[in-house]
Amino acid sequence: MSIPGDDRDNGTALDAKASLTAGADYWSTAAPPDLGIRSIRMADGPHGLRVQDDDNPDHLGLGRSLPATCFPPAVTLASTWDPALIRQVGEALGREALSQGVDVVLGPGINIKRSPLCGRNFEYYSEDPLLAGRLASAMVAGLQSQGVAACVKHFAVNNQETDRLRVSADVDERALREIYLRAFEVVVREADPWTVMSAYNRINGVPASENFWLLTELLRGEWGFAGAVVSDWGAVRDSVAAVEAGLDVRMPGPPPDTRVAAAVANGSLSEEVVEKVAARLRLLAERIAASRPAAAEMDEEAHHQVTRRAASQGAVLLHNDAGLLPVDPSRERSIAVIGELARTPRYQGAGSSAVNPRRLVTGLEALQSRLDGVTDVTFSPGYAEEGDADADTLVKDAVALAADSSLVLIFLGLPPAAEAEGRDRTSIELPANQVELLRAVAAVNPRVVVALSNGSPVTTAGWRNTAGAIVEFWLTGQAHGETIADVLLGEVNPSGKLTETVPVRLEDTPSYLNFPGEHGHVRYGEGIYVGYRWYDARAIDVDYPFGHGLSYTTFDYSDLEVTVRELEDPVAFTIALTITNSGSREGAEVVQVYVGDHSGALQMPVRELRGFAKVRLPAGASERVTLDIRRDDLQHVHPEAGWIFTGGEMEVCVGSSSRDLRLRALVDVPGHAYELPLTLWSPFREWLAHPVAGPAVRRLIDERGGVRGRMGDLLGDPVGRDSVLGNPMLALSQFPGFPINEADAEAVLAGLGGGS
Ligand code: BGC
Repeated sequence: MSIPGDDRDNGTALDAKASLTAGADYWSTAAPPDLGIRSIRMADGPHGLRVQDDDNPDHLGLGRSLPATCFPPAVTLASTWDPALIRQVGEALGREALSQGVDVVLGPGINIKRSPLCGRNFEYYSEDPLLAGRLASAMVAGLQSQGVAACVKHFAVNNQETDRLRVSADVDERALREIYLRAFEVVVREADPWTVMSAYNRINGVPASENFWLLTELLRGEWGFAGAVVSDWGAVRDSVAAVEAGLDVRMPGPPPDTRVAAAVANGSLSEEVVEKVAARLRLLAERIAASRPAAAEMDEEAHHQVTRRAASQGAVLLHNDAGLLPVDPSRERSIAVIGELARTPRYQGAGSSAVNPRRLVTGLEALQSRLDGVTDVTFSPGYAEEGDADADTLVKDAVALAADSSLVLIFLGLPPAAEAEGRDRTSIELPANQVELLRAVAAVNPRVVVALSNGSPVTTAGWRNTAGAIVEFWLTGQAHGETIADVLLGEVNPSGKLTETVPVRLEDTPSYLNFPGEHGHVRYGEGIYVGYRWYDARAIDVDYPFGHGLSYTTFDYSDLEVTVRELEDPVAFTIALTITNSGSREGAEVVQVYVGDHSGALQMPVRELRGFAKVRLPAGASERVTLDIRRDDLQHVHPEAGWIFTGGEMEVCVGSSSRDLRLRALVDVPGHAYELPLTLWSPFREWLAHPVAGPAVRRLIDERGGVRGRMGDLLGDPVGRDSVLGNPMLALSQFPGFPINEADAEAVLAGLGGGS
């Protein structure tokens, strides 16, 4: 214990606190004696636990870990658009963590899907920050309800794997705040995560893990984050700079890092900094203890069923033009299951998130057992996952089987090597051998259903019409086969929706010319125009739009009403509409609200997602759905004024996808005008419009006989007038005939007070 006034003991206590700033081992924080702060154990994350043998750890998912439920990765969870379901997954994951002695689960990962090529997109939620933030908040709430801390990662702007430990993401402030930081802001404000993981990369040149603005001013200052920040594994170069910037724990440890203790001892680092680290780790342990349930149950079967439910709710029915789905097996003479992925499933991604699943059923096994005694199910691999030595024979056999069957279920997707932590893809196409197989099969049997397994989108543009139906299963987690059978056989009516656009061509993507950058920099040249914001602004055809996903039933939208609220209300407007299940089976629809801001305050995307609700309805039933759209969620970032919502005309669109808008209304919404300080560089127009400077300038001009000479002529001409009004006061003051000089303008500014 340190005794006040005893320098030696105080030094020892400070040393102990300094030692907290580095991990004690690969997965745990330090617990120096006498501080009363216990060691906190962390584990990956995000969609299941990866608890490793402590003698042989790694952060690349190379080593085996203890068996754990492999829940669906984020791409699939997000496609449910269902916060309540995601919360249940979080709760189950929390219970798994408790059963394995884990205090912090390293997830969710909420980086924005800037490019479909990012190798870790399967671990992320969406191209839209509000959606990513809302859904990930549910995961955080679920985990933390069990007394297990979430660790929201990778903070921030970690949108690619190429050069990830070093690359500088060079991004303008508006895109940074509106797109790349916004999901984190939503989670911090709505779900209060107990930890955050700082990213590897640099942001505008400054390493995220040593970034005072990011970790202290923004995260803690503006957003009120009260938790601890841990670094990504190996992200810290300068441990003193990192702690000073607001990082609490540098991971992993050992080797022991004495630099922080030395800096405190020689006075170059304030003691207060390590005191704060100690306080935050103490708080973390307290929060965990306070929320731990009295008796934690680990029910493997229940967790498997949660996985199955979430995976089937996340499946996206991309197209079903030929009406082949759901399959009615009693009407099929025989069903050919084709594709190596039917017996060697891809159900999760590679890297630090890889879970050693408790069980796994393949698509082929599930279909065979479900259809046993109903119809014949036969199998042919059709292609090899990697390397194609006997490609011709594989295709020939599959084609023969297809020709002999009444229906073909073909399993296609990305091989494991195509998408993994640590590297990005270079194409959005399916492997060529799979597309060739599909064409050959469809040529002999047009009744083909494609089941896709991939963690980031593949374009179907080149072969969509070859298939009668396509279901995007993403990565299902361990309930793989059951999920596929549930959806294809219609036991589950698909209701998943895309949380990212599927482009037609890689060349159409917003970051195409700026991904993955070069020479240590990647320029976010597309600004805020990420995902559908880009495709809509440029009217680019897409393969499937953001928000798309069909059902085995149909939904009608009617009677939109928008009630605009008073300026003081945090809700800007409430929308109400009626949704009717107009088909013949129960199903769920994700009602999406997009708002186009016509205020002209800034350059704006055509429209942006501002709210959503998942509604489940029996056949024939209707429900009145109401949604509050918050004023904060309508804001944009002005380069000088910061977050603004000026109000004005808003176009409210409600639909089933970003490009299937069923109802629209134009409304006038009150907002807050923003005032920019007047300077010598402000245009003449702003001077004249200013409530104090305007009259003063007009008076001076009148007193001096008006604007004369060339400037006077231009002001008298409608086109010229516009150009003069757009000129800065400083420039005008230098022209002959303009009656106000620089000193006059400065005097007017001085009269405004406040230095403006
Ligand atoms: C990954 C993190 C992961 C950590 C620990 C890093 O390489 O980027 O997401 O949590 O390793 O395995």
